[in-house]
Amino acid sequence: MIERSLVLLKPDAVQRGLIGEIIARFERTGLKIVGLKMVWINKDFAIKHYPETLIPIVGKKTLDDWKEMGIETDKTAEQLGAQIHKDLLEFTTEAPIVAMVLEGVHAVLIIRKIVGHTSPHKAEPGTIRGDYSPISMGYATQRGFGGRNLIHASGNVKEAEHEIALWFKPGELFKYSSVHDAHVQ
Ligand code: CDP
Ligand code: MG
Repeated sequence: MIERSLVLLKPDAVQRGLIGEIIARFERTGLKIVGLKMVWINKDFAIKHYPETLIPIVGKKTLDDWKEMGIETDKTAEQLGAQIHKDLLEFTTEAPIVAMVLEGVHAVLIIRKIVGHTSPHKAEPGTIRGDYSPISMGYATQRGFGGRNLIHASGNVKEAEHEIALWFKPGELFKYSSVHDAHVQ
């Protein structure tokens, strides 16, 4: 049940000076940082992290958001998703990202809870997106920019394994004991 998850502090978190604030939230839960670095990715790499298979998924989610917001469109999920994907690649390459691998019991699920809902307007107060990101994905898409929701966290264990292998070489990940180990054994 000890899992590893990939967390990315996206360009908006770095540019807004929220790196320390966000990392502190993970540290205080007792999650172990086993890898950490700053990288400025290009579009070729960004597309590996956000492959084109994401297009219909984000398109459908955003169409549902727009419906809830009363925004009418004749765009299909594929068309809207293609625009979102393009904006997302722009956004994730416009400044450096802080990438880290966190380890802990049920880490993937616990981290998703700390991060909050994808669209910050639905993220609970106390979550990172709920506390620091005053937008919605539906709004960002309507205005034609990538949804600045501060952070990425792997969605499930399989996604985490794939993403960690993409972002980190084995030698960049460390095994060490922390004070929290005694409390989770
Ligand atoms: O990041 P998360 O796993 O919560 O959400 P996702 O559905 O996997 O979407 C990936 C990313 O696409 C989001 O985190 C947003 O940065 C971006 N997105 C966007 O820019 N505009 C949208 N309308 C929907 C998603
Ligand atoms: Mg996701």
